[in-house]
Amino acid sequence: MSTSPLPYRVGYGEDAHRLAPGRPLILGGVPVPQAEHGAVAHSDGDAVLHAVADALLSGLALGDIGQYFPDTAAQWRGMDSRLILARALALVREQGYVPLNVAVVVTLDQPKLGPLRAEIAQQLAGLLGLAAAEVGVSFKTSEGLAPQHVQTRVSLLLGRVHE
Ligand code: C5P
Ligand code: MG
Repeated sequence: MSTSPLPYRVGYGEDAHRLAPGRPLILGGVPVPQAEHGAVAHSDGDAVLHAVADALLSGLALGDIGQYFPDTAAQWRGMDSRLILARALALVREQGYVPLNVAVVVTLDQPKLGPLRAEIAQQLAGLLGLAAAEVGVSFKTSEGLAPQHVQTRVSLLLGRVHE
């Protein structure tokens, strides 16, 4: 069996948060202005950034964000999840890989997120060093099965950087 590093690695991540009134809803670093409910979470509860960070780590078998940012640690309370993503990206780059494209699926019943699609893609692209055309953003409802819930699933491709 070859031990040379793979040219490509696939990553996959998921995250879910319960929704409750009186909290902000932030997805992909973008506040959702019409949201009546926000994520119950230790950090800012950004289910998109958490799932993207886990996808980055999973692609290189680096574990998951809970190992780097335990939700029992007071220092991470209310933290901006862009810092979590930046840490995961730095770990991936240390291994000699960069993300090449990413596909994000957000399941949320309310509100409609379509008007924020371009902004979320642009924000993710900026955080990941990608073009917006390399960031797919899809939205689904749960068809009423999980109205107090936001769920994100993310697949991404990592490519090895040649020196
Ligand atoms: O889940 P469903 O197939 O019913 O979603 C129908 C449409 O609603 C999709 O085009 C999706 O982009 C959009 N949608 C949305 N915001 C959501 C959930 C779905 O814009 N929160
Ligand atoms: Mg989360």
